[in-house]
Amino acid sequence: MSVSIVIHADLPQATINKNIYGHFAEHLGRCIYEGIWVGVDSPIPNTEGFRNDVLAALKQVNIPVLRWPGGCFADEYHWKDGIGPKETRKRMVNTHWGGLVENNHFGTHEFFRFCELLDCEPYICGNVGSGTVQEMSEWVEYMTFEGESPMADWRRANGREEPWKLKYFGVGNENWGCGGNMRPEYYADLYRQYQTYVRNYGDNQLFKIAGGANVDDYNWTEVLMREAGRFMDGLSLHSYTIPGSWEEKRPALGFDEAEWVETMKKSLHMDELITRHSAIMDQYDPQKRIGMIIDEWGTWFQSEPGTNPGFLYQQNTLRDALVAGIHLNIFQKHSDRVQMANLAQVVNVLQAMILTEGDQLLLTPTYHVFDMYKVHQGNESLAVNFASPDYSFEGVTIPQLSVSASRDQGGNVYVSICNLSHLEPVSVNFRIGGASLKEVSGQILTHGELNAHNTFEEPEKVTIAAYNGAALNNGQLECELPPASVVVLTLK
Ligand code: AHR
Repeated sequence: MSVSIVIHADLPQATINKNIYGHFAEHLGRCIYEGIWVGVDSPIPNTEGFRNDVLAALKQVNIPVLRWPGGCFADEYHWKDGIGPKETRKRMVNTHWGGLVENNHFGTHEFFRFCELLDCEPYICGNVGSGTVQEMSEWVEYMTFEGESPMADWRRANGREEPWKLKYFGVGNENWGCGGNMRPEYYADLYRQYQTYVRNYGDNQLFKIAGGANVDDYNWTEVLMREAGRFMDGLSLHSYTIPGSWEEKRPALGFDEAEWVETMKKSLHMDELITRHSAIMDQYDPQKRIGMIIDEWGTWFQSEPGTNPGFLYQQNTLRDALVAGIHLNIFQKHSDRVQMANLAQVVNVLQAMILTEGDQLLLTPTYHVFDMYKVHQGNESLAVNFASPDYSFEGVTIPQLSVSASRDQGGNVYVSICNLSHLEPVSVNFRIGGASLKEVSGQILTHGELNAHNTFEEPEKVTIAAYNGAALNNGQLECELPPASVVVLTLK
């Protein structure tokens, strides 16, 4: 099987916002506590209470933006409980996630410090579902006001003299569900009201993000754009890849070939979702001023046996790596509208990049895809034209290939290709017009076992290897892709 792909290196489409490589950390299970924050007295090596190994791993992938504190948790989070001396911070029950007592040791100051250490943009999600307009307004004042005011003075009393720089602010989360079970008409009005008091202080300009649709709820997007579009800078979209059904999710491990294909098919659905939600946004915002912010995506399987089901802890296999590659390719293709995406979640929850156990850490196959794809961050996306061969299994047919390409400022071209077939290799012949490229190098993530994954005993079973299957001659690039593989090529 041989496929021809044409890439026009001289026809850039749109800038790939590096924030599509963003992440999400919620007060859920072992994401914040244990995964990120262990406290200064922990025997686990840390910097000011943050795990050193997690900091190093996230820096390596150039994490551009981090969303916090939820998720569903955001709409029951009261920020004033999470500031001041830790010993006196109010404790609460995390009713959404496992009913655990939350001690609020990780709060606003800790979140901003973590982002500073990572050199990434903070993205804060405010509480509409159970919080007041005043509470949200005062949080923004606390974080971003420079002068003398009750909230700014309180921040200074808590040890932070200068206001923080904050760009991304979400006005509620999933307000159609855990964020208040609202109708879109009602939320649109609340959004208009709450965002009025989310102020820009001094030169801090907020990018306000309205809570968007669940999967294919196109009516939600329509109502929000019509009623509140002019008050927002971004509109979110949430869509998880769930083999089986929401009620009966499938395990992360021990899946068969049919579930592999089902997972690929469900991941590819993201393309249709973005296309259709964008078409609605285009009607109200043809200039594409409002960004689509896909601030929750990723696989959602059954929790690992023996773990608290409310903690959403799942293993991560080569299949998750393909899911990540497919999504990132799709986001890049839609760079004209998609301005941010946040994988759920960064450590120990759902499609995590990192798993921890005590002082041990492992990097998942998903992590490696983010590491390989980081070369695309901030580049110009390029049009990729090809007819993918079909990949059919037991009556389900999907395209075998998922591809995206970009060009950096120096004219180098990057191509990421996923072979979704668990059975068939594929030969690809690229014609790259508009550039004179002389050298090719690459990286590959693959494995012979369908369920291949990393464990604390064998943390590098699925890991990045140098890719030697590509040859470049007179602008013609040939490469051989093994089944179930993710490859990123660099052409200079
Ligand atoms: O990421 C887990 C949960 O999924 C989030 O809290 C919520 O927003 C979504 O339903």
